[in-house]
Amino acid sequence: MPTVLVTGANRGIGFQFCKKYSEYGWKVIACCRRPDQSHDLNAVAKSFDNLVVESLDISLFEQVDKLAIKLSGMPVDILINNAGVYDDNRMNGFGRLDYAKWLNSLNINTLGPVKLAEAFLPHIIQSEKKLIVNISSLMGSISDNSSGGSILYRSSKAALNAAMKSLSIDLKDQGVGALILHPGWVKPIWVEQAL
Ligand SMILES: NC(=O)c1ccc[n+]([C@@H]2O[C@H](COP(=O)([O-])OP(=O)(O)OC[C@H]3O[C@@H](n4cnc5c(N)ncnc54)[C@H](OP(=O)(O)O)[C@@H]3O)[C@@H](O)[C@H]2O)c1
Repeated sequence: MPTVLVTGANRGIGFQFCKKYSEYGWKVIACCRRPDQSHDLNAVAKSFDNLVVESLDISLFEQVDKLAIKLSGMPVDILINNAGVYDDNRMNGFGRLDYAKWLNSLNINTLGPVKLAEAFLPHIIQSEKKLIVNISSLMGSISDNSSGGSILYRSSKAALNAAMKSLSIDLKDQGVGALILHPGWVKPIWVEQAL
């Protein structure tokens, strides 16, 4: 069975990817920052022995390298760069930009996925499917931006798109594909809880 590695696996879209791939019988490496607090994911891991939970903060590159070494020799068919943050709010728009938060958005939404792709390239090349899948956003599109705002998020997803477009060209000869996907609007858990 193929293997998928998912970041941000403890909730939201990443969690659903893990659940579905487990149900389909794939080997799932479900990465999240705090496995001990990831109760839904741990419940899935109890039901499916093809899912393993790994601790990973994608902004801490030593953790990324450590996990790649731990899993060396294991083919990864699909790397799903799903983890992401939306750090914009009414209080930190243009004029009151929070540059520390902007750097955090770039670290998590742009640099992290590229670092994952670099660290896991040997695993991906060994696999059959050889795919790097990035959960980006239409908000990263420059041509689609008709409403402005969300500078932190938009710029970090635009940079992710640019980097992954380059990887799709640079890795073509090695048979590796880099996809940029927009999932549509998916209700975040905090909206659900507030309703
Ligand atoms: N929801 C939408 O409508 C929508 C639309 C377009 C694109 N997207 C994109 O789709 C992806 C998933 O969205 P979602 O709605 O499922 O988001 P979410 O519910 O807010 O979940 C975000 C996930 O990313 C993880 N994460 C954040 N920072 C991390 C880090 N430094 N290292 C590792 N994991 C980290 C979170 O872990 P913690 O629990 O530890 O914080 C969480 O698992 C994101 O990239 C998002 O930008 C979503």
